[in-house]
Amino acid sequence: MIEARELTKRYGDTVAVDGVDFSVQKGEVVGFLGPNAAGKTTTMRMLTGFIPPTNGTATIADYDIFENPLEARRRIGYLPETPPLYPEMTVSSYLAFIARIKDIPRRARREHIDRAVERCGLTSVRRRVIGTLSKGFRQRVGLAQAIVHEPPVLILDEPTVGLDPLQIHEIRSLIRDLAAPGKGDTQQTVILSTHILAEVEAICRRVILINQGRKVVDAPIEDLTRNGQSLEELFVRETASDAVAKREASDGGAREATP
Ligand SMILES: Nc1ncnc2c1ncn2[C@@H]1O[C@H](COP(=O)(O)OP(=O)(O)O)[C@@H](O)[C@H]1O
Ligand SMILES: [Mg+2]
Repeated sequence: MIEARELTKRYGDTVAVDGVDFSVQKGEVVGFLGPNAAGKTTTMRMLTGFIPPTNGTATIADYDIFENPLEARRRIGYLPETPPLYPEMTVSSYLAFIARIKDIPRRARREHIDRAVERCGLTSVRRRVIGTLSKGFRQRVGLAQAIVHEPPVLILDEPTVGLDPLQIHEIRSLIRDLAAPGKGDTQQTVILSTHILAEVEAICRRVILINQGRKVVDAPIEDLTRNGQSLEELFVRETASDAVAKREASDGGAREATP
């Protein structure tokens, strides 16, 4: 459903994302894990067509993000780090606006909005002005705008950041519900970025760990924790050892000493 090939993004001398390859099958729920500045947001922005890669490409449901950007984007629901909410709009009018932008045919809009409102637990606040909602509810509205066109792929960038523990719990269960296979053959494919280990353990089956723009781990969580190691141990080892290697490489003569 998602294929990333050699995805690379450079900003001047900074290599934000460095030749990242991965594929995500239909129905998979993958945690995109990495410390701050690892390149998670940049990767997601490339997948969703918000910024062009410097190198490499990706396909969404077999549509190349360069060759068929509109078809690719149509199949993605994206929750950015800061969702583009309009605080002065009501939940329903905002979702109606998004439904229009996303080209949902006029006669289907009402139904799509009703389903998104219901799935995201927004029924009781649909006539409220977004700016008066709690952060947890605003994040639900962010999720509702991501799913309103009922895309097969969801890309969620740190969906629980800035929420309190109860709100985190609620948003995580909501994401688990959204990711659960629907009726018929509707299977949601999800990539969710986070630097919180408990989040991947709570929601995802597979983890892709990136550090300094490179993919360092890509495996089912079950395989990673089989020998009794915790995800935390893995995270610390993979992100710290890389940092050490980098420090050594930049430290004069140490470069020759490293095999
Ligand atoms: N627009 C930009 N201009 C310059 N550097 C950027 C830009 N966006 C991201 N970066 C850099 O790219 C790296 C990866 O950032 P980001 O993808 O936001 O990481 P993450 O989401 O994992 O925290 C960081 O070093 C960041 O400073
Ligand atoms: Mg980020």
